[in-house]
Amino acid sequence: VTTPVGDLRSESSFIPYRQSVGRHRYELTTPALVLDASILRRNIATMAEWTRTHAKIRPHAKTHKCAEIARLQVAAGAAGITVATVWEAVAMADAGLDNILIANEVVGKEKLTRLAQAARETNFLVAVDSVAGADALSHAALSAGTRIGVLIEIDVGMRRGGVRTPTEACSLAAALSRLAGIVLRGVMGFEGHVVTEPNRALRATMAAEAMERLIACVEILERAGFEIEIVSAGGTNTYDMTGANPRVTELQAGTYVLMDTAYGPLVPAFKPALTILGTVMSRNERTAVLDFGTKVMAMDLGRPALVEPCATVRAVHEEHTLLDVQDDARLRVGEAVEIVVGYCGGTVNLNDVYHVVENDQVVDVWPILARGPGRSLVA
Ligand SMILES: Cc1ncc(COP(=O)(O)O)c(C=O)c1O
Repeated sequence: VTTPVGDLRSESSFIPYRQSVGRHRYELTTPALVLDASILRRNIATMAEWTRTHAKIRPHAKTHKCAEIARLQVAAGAAGITVATVWEAVAMADAGLDNILIANEVVGKEKLTRLAQAARETNFLVAVDSVAGADALSHAALSAGTRIGVLIEIDVGMRRGGVRTPTEACSLAAALSRLAGIVLRGVMGFEGHVVTEPNRALRATMAAEAMERLIACVEILERAGFEIEIVSAGGTNTYDMTGANPRVTELQAGTYVLMDTAYGPLVPAFKPALTILGTVMSRNERTAVLDFGTKVMAMDLGRPALVEPCATVRAVHEEHTLLDVQDDARLRVGEAVEIVVGYCGGTVNLNDVYHVVENDQVVDVWPILARGPGRSLVA
């Protein structure tokens, strides 16, 4: 295992973060992303336990962007990892992770070249949904003298990427079989339009319908003579629905490992391991103001909430979080406040590191990788 390309650990700007090791979680310089190691391990173990008797998991690492977390997931039995970008794929490969699914189409010469170079040493799977995309991937693989596995992405109702019909899937599979350097390994179909449905029974029905569409494609492909070894689908909120389908071979859920307020009520089996620690910097009447805002906390999904519910979040500005205080004795200037974020994946991408805590003490600092191409372009 080497230091991943673009790993903050090798830079002097990492030193201030390292100095927090040994401190109490409430003594961190704020704002600070806090990762509770025991909750993290429990979330990983809960998913590992479930997947032992159902579909496997190849967890989505776009959620955490962290090699240390990915290694814990693999050590618990994950079939590899899933990522969203070439930069995540390369950073994870550099960190020693293998069997990496890029659950996205990859386009663009530099990205394809970098991916194909990395594929000489690491096993990748890449989603494809067009002959043009597959053709460019095939050229990159041939130029690098390597072979790359592909999954045909099938739209199961989200209307994002993915071929729309079984007929299109079959003609793409036929085109793939004529391209050198790439090998058809299976299909993926993420039911992203289903995962935020709050009613569990309705979510289960919608997930089942989405999987019917996916499996219909699989069966038609198989009847046409294509071998479909991998059927990848599922998010955190549908893991025990999609993952119980006997034809689905693996899940690509990501959020379960960190959790947030958007997903918490939908999947109570997983608990928030991620929080942001802030400090009250102003207190007037019933308003307390924390020293961070949307520059370190993503607001795309749920509403942030205090770990200790002595106030509610009224608004989040760029550099301020405004709280309505219920308990007058609390939240004086200088007090530390811990917040469960509304959207963990977006929040992680806004931060440099996790402060890893065990029994409320910082025991390590883990870099967040691949927040852009940056130095990943250096082969
Ligand atoms: C293609 C794909 N697969 C899997 C996931 C993981 O889902 P979740 O974070 O809900 O577990 C996502 C999340 O958006 C996704 O876009």
